[in-house]
Amino acid sequence: LLLENRLIDTRVEQPSASLHDRASQFGDGVYEVIRLYQGTFHLLEPHLARLYRSMEELEIRPAFTKAELIHWLYELVTQNECKEDAIVYLQISRGAQIRNHVYADNLTPIVYAYVAEKERPVTLMQNGIHACIEQDIRWLRCDIKSLNLLPNVLARTNAERKNCQEALLVRGNTVTEGSQSNFFLVKQGTLYTHPANHLILNGIVRQYVCSLASGLGIPVREEMFSIKDVLLAEEAFFTGTTFEILPMTHLDGAAINGGVVGSVTTALQKAFQDSIA
Ligand code: PDD
Repeated sequence: LLLENRLIDTRVEQPSASLHDRASQFGDGVYEVIRLYQGTFHLLEPHLARLYRSMEELEIRPAFTKAELIHWLYELVTQNECKEDAIVYLQISRGAQIRNHVYADNLTPIVYAYVAEKERPVTLMQNGIHACIEQDIRWLRCDIKSLNLLPNVLARTNAERKNCQEALLVRGNTVTEGSQSNFFLVKQGTLYTHPANHLILNGIVRQYVCSLASGLGIPVREEMFSIKDVLLAEEAFFTGTTFEILPMTHLDGAAINGGVVGSVTTALQKAFQDSIA
């Protein structure tokens, strides 16, 4: 069952037909991937807050209010009779304009979204995944959820070719995040993850997991760490909207924690599961 529908800002003429959409020429736009569990939005507010922050950083000025956007999103889900575990992909481009590096300041942003069924990665959550190291060749504003994903696409495809389910990105001596997820390690019972600065996307699930950890009395430290720290870690996992909490059991073939999913990871997965039940 594939649920798909386009959500279009009808004030824009032929928005889907424009070959001059700056999203396709320059990747000039932003997006969000939002979770639905059994047809109900999960963490919608923080996703929209991040979307608006991304737009502000890029001077993309939507011609609609946040309330209108929320209304459209609920309409999309209702029209598709979505009652499953699903995701909504929401993209907002700066607008259409004859190709020019300099953006005009009167463009009308083009919005589209679709809903698609997406099961929770239950087996991977239980067994963990293999990851490989890839160089983080992205720009220095990874905090903006921009449509420019070429480095992520290349890293993730390389990982797939190595039979890995995620790429762990490394900039210099520092582990930043995954190609489509954030990354955590456990050392002496404490969670470590890269600080939420310009070098990573501040994931909604990352923030959620940090709050779950606090609830469980697990200390969290936002600090930089290296590959060496990862290889010596007690546990490691990725987080993301589609990943939830995916244990990393192997990195470039080397086992973490003997290749077994650890107890801190399992406790966080359980807390997550309980919170959406
Ligand atoms: N990816 N880091 C990067 C580079 C990401 O692309 C994502 C999300 C995350 C996790 O963010 P969140 O917890 O808000 O999903 C971290 C989305 C799902 C994607 O591009 O498919």
